[in-house]
Amino acid sequence: MNKTITVLGAGYVGLTTAALLAHAGYKVYAIEPNKKRLDVIKTGKSFFFEEGLDPVIKQAIDSGNLIATDSYEESVPHSSIVFSCVGTPDNPDGSSNLTYVFSAAEQAASLMQEGAIYVQKSTVPVRTGERIIELFKSNGKNFPYVSNPEFLREGTALYDTLFFDRVVVGGSDKKAVTTILDTYRDLEAARDTIAALANVQSTPRKGKYIATSLNSAELIKVSANAFLALKISFANSIAKLADKVDADVVEVMDAVGADERIGRAFLNAGRGYGGGCFPKDVSGLISSGLENGIDLEVMQAAQALNRSMPGYVVEKLKNHIGELGDKKVAVLGLAFKSGTSDVRKSPGVAIANVLSHAGAQTVAHDPQANDEAKEDLRRDVVLSDNALQAVQDVDAIIIATEWPEFTSLDLVECKEQMRGTVLLDAVNIIEKASAESAGLQYIGVGR
Ligand code: UDX
Repeated sequence: MNKTITVLGAGYVGLTTAALLAHAGYKVYAIEPNKKRLDVIKTGKSFFFEEGLDPVIKQAIDSGNLIATDSYEESVPHSSIVFSCVGTPDNPDGSSNLTYVFSAAEQAASLMQEGAIYVQKSTVPVRTGERIIELFKSNGKNFPYVSNPEFLREGTALYDTLFFDRVVVGGSDKKAVTTILDTYRDLEAARDTIAALANVQSTPRKGKYIATSLNSAELIKVSANAFLALKISFANSIAKLADKVDADVVEVMDAVGADERIGRAFLNAGRGYGGGCFPKDVSGLISSGLENGIDLEVMQAAQALNRSMPGYVVEKLKNHIGELGDKKVAVLGLAFKSGTSDVRKSPGVAIANVLSHAGAQTVAHDPQANDEAKEDLRRDVVLSDNALQAVQDVDAIIIATEWPEFTSLDLVECKEQMRGTVLLDAVNIIEKASAESAGLQYIGVGR
């Protein structure tokens, strides 16, 4: 088996996977159809912000082990493994649009060499693999097909991929499953060297290698994300109650999460979850349930709760400053979380739009995501290049992303710039006492 790999799609997952495997003894082609993005990758950079990734891409491109191209013909026929990492945009009904998943599979299959393995990394609804295997068969092809779900988080993509908790590979061809698991063993062997190059902290963590059936692997991915989303919505529902009974949800979750069976992670209450994965995976799982006659009510409740959070935050603000028609409000944070410029389904963007819709003069600022947010914001939301400028003359500040820049905001200076005094911390990152000693009225979510 030759050690040449093609990765279809050079987005967050594809480009990270391609660049890392290029440092683990493989020659990797990364296919990116978008000319502008392709040109950026060819210069040894990513076209999105991801800590540590650029030096890894740069060295791989310079060494010739990573080749960026838009051509299936140049890459696929030489590869023994083809990873599909193409996008799955949202359909208007919230389900995943699988057009790219199927067209990439069909295009690659027409060029793949005998025995090459097709690996699905894009998040797809359970049973999609069966449909792709049927598609291969209807074209007279019989390639081994495996599902290899991706668990990396944006912002910590390199760390997550190098120091994984688990690698899951599912399929009926045991030899193919073993080959793909071995690819990750090669990556694990190279991980400390790569981590040093990327300036990512190394840990001696030993991840699990898990082989499953095809359908289980598909279901593992969405179930893992759905459970994390459920934890967040659980914390947010307790936060709403804490608001009513004058309890502090942070204290509650610190103690609840100290139970090892529960764990503290993903119990941070606030403005709810966003991003390219949780909202889509939750609605995808609900749809898969309904298609199979199973009503995943618990996930419907988690989804509804999450959708209520941006409005809930704005209502809290109104309770303190009154109707918004004559108010000016700054929203600090537009990325769906810190460490990324991604604004897909971002609660910060939703909050800014709710404010503006309610008539508030709205100014927004994000350290990384201003450009990406522009398109999703209502036209009358004004973008500002820095936080202190954004808070000038405002009646209230809403912090909507947990950027370290906002944790360390000079609150005394903010207070001086503002005309009002309200600080609504929608990610619960500021100490109430420090806000109050700066003369601000502190409001958290559930505290
Ligand atoms: C997620 C999964 O964590 C990852 O395993 C999967 O591969 C892709 O989806 P990502 O979307 O990058 O990763 O971000 P994550 O860090 O999981 O955060 C998702 C959203 O939940 C963010 O909006 C974040 O702010 C929010 N969140 C997270 C909370 O509101 N509270 C928490 O306690 C944790």
